Amino acid sequence: MSPIFDHFSWVAPFYDRFFAVDPGPLRDLLKLPGAGWVLDLGGGTGRVAQALRGDSDEIVVLDESVGMLRQARRKGLPVVCGEAEHLPFVGGAFARILVVDAFHHLRDQQRAACELLRVLAPGGRLVMEEPNVERIPVWLIAFGEKLALMRSHFRSPRAVQRMFEAVGGRVRLEREGARFWAVVEAEDERPLA
Ligand SMILES: C[S@@+](CC[C@H](N)C(=O)[O-])C[C@H]1O[C@@H](n2cnc3c(N)ncnc32)[C@H](O)[C@@H]1O
Repeated sequence: MSPIFDHFSWVAPFYDRFFAVDPGPLRDLLKLPGAGWVLDLGGGTGRVAQALRGDSDEIVVLDESVGMLRQARRKGLPVVCGEAEHLPFVGGAFARILVVDAFHHLRDQQRAACELLRVLAPGGRLVMEEPNVERIPVWLIAFGEKLALMRSHFRSPRAVQRMFEAVGGRVRLEREGARFWAVVEAEDERPLA
């Protein structure tokens, strides 16, 4: 199901000019460089994937916004147009998954969490970077996105942790300033998505 109004296609040509990339923490938390396929879920223009490109065998950007993916294609990145809630990949396809500033935009976060763990390879690692809504500036941004009729739903670090634990993930949280990271590994017994 495509968004009613794709805000991201509209901003895609300018997106990278407004958001600087800081790949350092992601590289460390993902334990890159490393072997195997990497999925950048909700990867948009490929802003982050491009910065991590030299650290992985292959990195693929999945996003539902055609306009955002067009920018990623221009960078020569492999792209897949699809929804986080219905990932078009076989189970265990990815050694590493990153989700940067995208989880709060997803339509059905619980469903996406199941899908993410399904496509994560045994022993693989998922790192999610999100703005920390417990910080006032982020709370104000969240409020602004509501006014702009974006469907974003920000969750606290603990709520994200509980959500991934509920679908079989082992979760460690890292916080710095107005952002946080959830580092997720699959438990041995995985639920069927
Ligand atoms: C704020 S942008 C972040 C893009 C990129 N991760 C970055 O940090 O530059 C959020 C992205 O999530 C994508 N998105 C939102 N809902 C999605 C869904 N259900 N499935 C796939 N992508 C989605 C949007 O199209 C957008 O490109």
